[in-house]
Amino acid sequence: MNSTLIIALAALVVLAGVVVLTAARRRETTGVLSRETRSRDESAAHTVSGKEFERAATAARSTALAVPKTVAVTAWVPPDPEVIGVSRRQFFNRATITLMTAGIGGFGAASLGFLWKGAEGGFGSKINAGKIDDIIAGIRSNNGFLYLPEARAWVTEYPKESLAKAEVIYASQAPVFAGMSSGIVALYQKCPHLGCRVPTCATSQWFECPCHGSQFNRVGEKKGGPAPRGMDRFAVSLNNGNIVIDTGTIFGGPSIGTNTTGQEAEGPHCVGGESH
Ligand code: FES
Repeated sequence: MNSTLIIALAALVVLAGVVVLTAARRRETTGVLSRETRSRDESAAHTVSGKEFERAATAARSTALAVPKTVAVTAWVPPDPEVIGVSRRQFFNRATITLMTAGIGGFGAASLGFLWKGAEGGFGSKINAGKIDDIIAGIRSNNGFLYLPEARAWVTEYPKESLAKAEVIYASQAPVFAGMSSGIVALYQKCPHLGCRVPTCATSQWFECPCHGSQFNRVGEKKGGPAPRGMDRFAVSLNNGNIVIDTGTIFGGPSIGTNTTGQEAEGPHCVGGESH
């Protein structure tokens, strides 16, 4: 028993000694760098720092232009236009100017032509239709109606026996009545309803509009259909035996119900059948 106790105490002493020695050794190694670490620190001491590297790079940078040592200077020679040809921009510029010039020129020529025509005696001016005897002969040879394209008018005879009535009805249209007194009525070809060109009807001896059936007697007084009045007309005057039709002014046709000549349909109608 005593020997066992002695052995146990000896073992405890040995263990305590080992523990003390180990702790003492650990305290000695704390704060000491390893050889490897020291070697790395020594090599790092010779490397360049980040700021030093940046400073060096900035100093090395330069904004000066690199100038070659020798520069060969040659005199400028204008390019040969034939070699260059026409550039695309020049082509479009010239094409635009040409087209604009052509357009403006065409418009100007058309305007001048229109004004010139008016000045020379086209529609809208006074038109010399020729000798009154020739006009009367022309009306009769054309079955009662003579068309004058330049005046856009139908010319018919006005019966002398109806002048007394006409003087009252057309009192406010003296230039029109003057033509009637000369035996002539010049009627605008345009229908007073919606503007169709009104043809004559050889059988009825009236004007009969094919568009909506308006009918007018030979002197343009309304006989039927939707037209709001008789056919419009122009002033007619005599000048040295010539009939002059003034197409510059259009006189409105006589009101519905006007019937100075009393002419009824002389045969079958060309349009519709009723007269009002
Ligand atoms: S346009 Fe002549 S009747 Fe209508």
